[in-house]
Amino acid sequence: MLPRGRVCLLSFALWIGSSVARLPGTQHPLLTPHNDEKTRADEYEFKHPIRKIAIIGAGPSALVAYRDFVQAGFEVRLFERDDVPGGNWHYTDEAPADTPVPNVAIPLADFVPSFPPPGVDLPFSTDYESDTEIRKDHRGPKPVWDTLTSNAPSFQELPWPAGTKWELTHYQLRNYVRAFASYHNINSNDDNPAVSYNTRVELVEKRLNDQGEEDGWRLWLKKLVPTGNNTSRATWWTEDFDAVTVASGRYNAAVIPSIPGLSEWVQNFSGHISHSRQYRRPQAFEGKTVLIVGASVSGSEISRDINAHAKQVIQSIHPAAHYRVINYLRRVPQNTTIVSEIKQFLPLASGASFESGQIELKNGTIITGIDHIIFATGFRYSFPFLPQYYDDAAYVPHEGSSTDVTPFLPADGSHIRHLHLDLFYIRDPTLAFLGMNLGTQSFSYSDYLSLALAKVWSNTAKLPSVSEMWRMYDKVLEDRGGHGKHFQFLGPTRLTANIRFFIGWLNEAAVKYGGKQIDGLQKYVPEVNDYWLYSHYGGALKENVTTKAMEANLFGAIDIESQIGLFQVDSQEVAYQLMFDDNW
Ligand SMILES: Cc1cc2nc3c(=O)[nH]c(=O)nc-3n(C[C@H](O)[C@H](O)[C@H](O)COP(=O)(O)OP(=O)(O)OC[C@H]3O[C@@H](n4cnc5c(N)ncnc54)[C@H](O)[C@@H]3O)c2cc1C
Ligand SMILES: NC(=O)c1ccc[n+]([C@@H]2O[C@H](COP(=O)([O-])OP(=O)(O)OC[C@H]3O[C@@H](n4cnc5c(N)ncnc54)[C@H](OP(=O)(O)O)[C@@H]3O)[C@@H](O)[C@H]2O)c1
Repeated sequence: MLPRGRVCLLSFALWIGSSVARLPGTQHPLLTPHNDEKTRADEYEFKHPIRKIAIIGAGPSALVAYRDFVQAGFEVRLFERDDVPGGNWHYTDEAPADTPVPNVAIPLADFVPSFPPPGVDLPFSTDYESDTEIRKDHRGPKPVWDTLTSNAPSFQELPWPAGTKWELTHYQLRNYVRAFASYHNINSNDDNPAVSYNTRVELVEKRLNDQGEEDGWRLWLKKLVPTGNNTSRATWWTEDFDAVTVASGRYNAAVIPSIPGLSEWVQNFSGHISHSRQYRRPQAFEGKTVLIVGASVSGSEISRDINAHAKQVIQSIHPAAHYRVINYLRRVPQNTTIVSEIKQFLPLASGASFESGQIELKNGTIITGIDHIIFATGFRYSFPFLPQYYDDAAYVPHEGSSTDVTPFLPADGSHIRHLHLDLFYIRDPTLAFLGMNLGTQSFSYSDYLSLALAKVWSNTAKLPSVSEMWRMYDKVLEDRGGHGKHFQFLGPTRLTANIRFFIGWLNEAAVKYGGKQIDGLQKYVPEVNDYWLYSHYGGALKENVTTKAMEANLFGAIDIESQIGLFQVDSQEVAYQLMFDDNW
């Protein structure tokens, strides 16, 4: 029997419940009066209805977008430069070409767009012979190596089967992403006419209609199909769309830092210097002395991988490197020599071998006897098909396309500006960027982003006015400490806040306009996060990794005093959480 007090409470609750049930039917239970009173001036109005959407890419982000756009009733076309879906997770033994030193201009750092001869009728085809390099450049081999393992929360729609290991091989992830593509009938062997593999988007331009008004987008496309062992056929054509989703990935353009003397070394000994995106197998470094530059995820994982094969591994870290390097280096075997940043590559004597070259570090030490250098120094955003939006790129618009463009892509490729929710281009929200955040769960987060695109473009969710989008952008800019390399970085706190925002916004819109609703992330994710980190980076991590003792232990070989500030972090809890998301 319930105590008397509880009986009273229960009766009160039942009374409230029955009263609510009798309220007049004019009430909208989940909407605040503010929403009902909203005037149209508060909302962004598209200049033309959106019916046909292009998606660039067939990686995890693009596949989710395809599903949501089709479910929302759009006509969708998906273009993928590679021959299969999977994006980053399509491993091949074929590695990308050498990264130019010095770096080429960011707009062209991924590829140089290719067009048919001027004035020809489209579609236009031509045949290539000895096409190995052309094919490689066209499809863009991905930056994944044979032994790479991944931690990837599933697509929400297709949970990993019970008992699946949290740490997966990239082969498992490849199979999983392809299974997701097959599930939606867009794998390369599904012959779905909505999807075009082997097709690179060369240019995206704003189209003008007969009245000279902007009217959607025109895509310049190039398909490259093998016709024999060493031959292929290229075909160019254009297609028009009302909206475009850029889901081309964020690791397409590799970066090698500008270090005095390096260009001369590369010119003389290109085969001895590579970028982490070209790394495939440790056996290539059997018995060699290898210098790895960088100690973030790629640098430390590759260092660990080649350790048992190389004669010696030396790892050079950046004095300004972010604080997480100390944590990543915990995975590096103790016989690795950690050294400070490189100051210069000393001039090579005439006829000298690579091994005799001398490298001066910033602390004055000279190192020599290196057989191979791997630059694990990261990537930049590069969108060669949007040259008009870079502030310093040469761009000649084709006839019938708008010249009214405002650059928003920084020439150093460090981040992307002027996006609402890191997603909609504020000046024209018919252009969207998907999967561009760092420090987030690519697979599960794309559900929120692509549903937002599908709803907004089908008018079943509203964007705020342009002035409100700019106001929100300025707030984001302030919160993230201004523009820069980490502008697109989320991490767990922002990720959680963003997911809450999307759930509130999109589910409220679903109540008002109908359509799909969305849940939060699976509850187990934060818990698994903790276990994964514990097993991956070691038990002591959570307590205190930034102690002087540990720094001295790991970095005894370098002048710690010159690295002041290197491992400053707001709180260890933050560093710990950031690392998990940083692997995504
Ligand atoms: C070494 C490495 C390890 C990683 N480890 C993890 C991990 O453990 N867990 C995790 O969740 N994430 C990890 N990631 C992040 C990974 O990028 C995401 O998991 C995921 O692949 C992002 O999906 P996406 O669709 O946004 O981009 P991508 O997977 O990069 O796909 C982009 C697609 O666009 C295509 N494309 C590009 N340009 C064009 C064009 N002009 N025309 C047509 N197609 C084009 C590309 O060919 C590609 O298929 C890792 C990344 C790297 C580099
Ligand atoms: N699943 C996995 O195991 C795995 C493995 C590899 C990569 N990844 C993914 O790939 C993404 C990219 O990782 P990444 O490691 O390739 O790139 P990254 O995180 O951008 O790291 C590049 C590192 O190089 C440092 N650096 C730059 N110039 C240097 C110099 N002159 N000397 C020494 N260090 C220098 C950078 O320091 P500053 O930041 O100070 O410039 C940075 O720490 C990750 O975020 C992750 O998503 C995952």
